[in-house]
Amino acid sequence: MKKQEEIDIKPEINPNIFSEFQRINREREKEALREIPILEAKNVSKKFGDNIVIPSLNFKVEDIVGKSEIISILGPSGCGKSTVLKLIAGLIKPSSGQLFVCGNEITGPGMDRGMIFQKYSSFPFLNVIENISYPLITVKKIKKNQAFEEAKYWVDKMCLNGAEYKYPHQLSGGMQQRVAIARTLCMNARIILMDEPFGALDRKIRWEMQDLIAEILFFKPIQEVTILLVTHDISEAVYLGDRIWIINKGQLVYKEFLDRPKEMARISQGKKDFQEIVAYFNEKIDNLDIN
Ligand SMILES: Nc1ncnc2c1ncn2[C@@H]1O[C@H](COP(=O)(O)OP(=O)(O)OP(=O)(O)O)[C@@H](O)[C@H]1O
Ligand SMILES: [Mg+2]
Repeated sequence: MKKQEEIDIKPEINPNIFSEFQRINREREKEALREIPILEAKNVSKKFGDNIVIPSLNFKVEDIVGKSEIISILGPSGCGKSTVLKLIAGLIKPSSGQLFVCGNEITGPGMDRGMIFQKYSSFPFLNVIENISYPLITVKKIKKNQAFEEAKYWVDKMCLNGAEYKYPHQLSGGMQQRVAIARTLCMNARIILMDEPFGALDRKIRWEMQDLIAEILFFKPIQEVTILLVTHDISEAVYLGDRIWIINKGQLVYKEFLDRPKEMARISQGKKDFQEIVAYFNEKIDNLDIN
C-alpha cells in the first residue's frame, strides 16, 4: 500500500513583531479590571473514592479588559493538574465547593470553555475545515456555508493554508494541534484549557507553536481569551506565562507574575537571564514535599 502523504506546513512568524511588544509591555500597568473575575474557585475539593486529590482549592483570576492572559501551571506528576482543568472544563464535578466562569457557576461543559489535550483532539474522519467548523454547526447551529467561511478565517490565522481538505492523519503533530486550537478559538471561547498541548512535539515544532500562541494572543490579539496551560516544560511555562502557578498535592502552593516574551522562543530561551528564571522554578518544584 502506498504510504500516506503527511504534510507539514510551518507557521511563519515575523521576528519584528517582538519590537512591537515592548510597547504592549509598557501598557500593562494601565490595566482595567472587570468587576467579576473570569475564573474563580471557592473551596473546591475533589475525591476519587478515598483518594482526596484536591483538598480545598481557592483562586480568583481577574478579567482584564482588552487583554488575553496565559496562566502556566506546573507541578509534579499526579499532583492534580489535569483534574483541575477537567473541573473547569465541566468534564468532572467537584466533590464540594464551586467554580465560576465570569460569575456563572460551572455545572458542565460549555461554549465559553474549550479544552485541548496532548493528542486526539480532532475527528479522524473530518478534514481540517470540517474539524474546525464542527462545533459551530453542531453546537452553535450555524449554517454550514457560514461555518466553513469562519473556519477558513482560522485556517489563515493558524497558518494552515493549503491543508484545508486534509485529514488529521495526513497532518504533522504541530498542524493537528493548530487545528485543535483553531476549533476552540472559532467558538469564541473565553477560556482555553490546554493539557500538555505540545508535549508530543519535538523542540523545534514546540518553539514554533509557542511563537504562534504568542502572536495570536499577545502581538496580534484577535479575541480576549484566558489560557490555562499545563506543561512539564518549565521553559515553555516561563516563556508563555503571564503568571505561573505551581500545584502540589492538589493545592496551589505558589503564584507568580512574569514578563512576556521579548524575542522568539528559540532565541529567548537560550539566554542566560531566561535560563536563570527557569532554574529558579525548577528548584521550587524539586524542593516540593511530594509524599
Ligand atoms: N478518573 C479518575 N479516577 C480515579 N482517580 C483519578 C482519576 N483522575 C485522576 N485520578 C487520580 O488523581 C490524581 C491526580 O491526577 P491528575 O491526572 O490530575 O494528575 P496530573 O497532575 O495531571 O499528573 P501528570 O503530570 O502525570 O499528568 C492521581 O492520583 C490520579 O490517579
Ligand atoms: Mg495530567
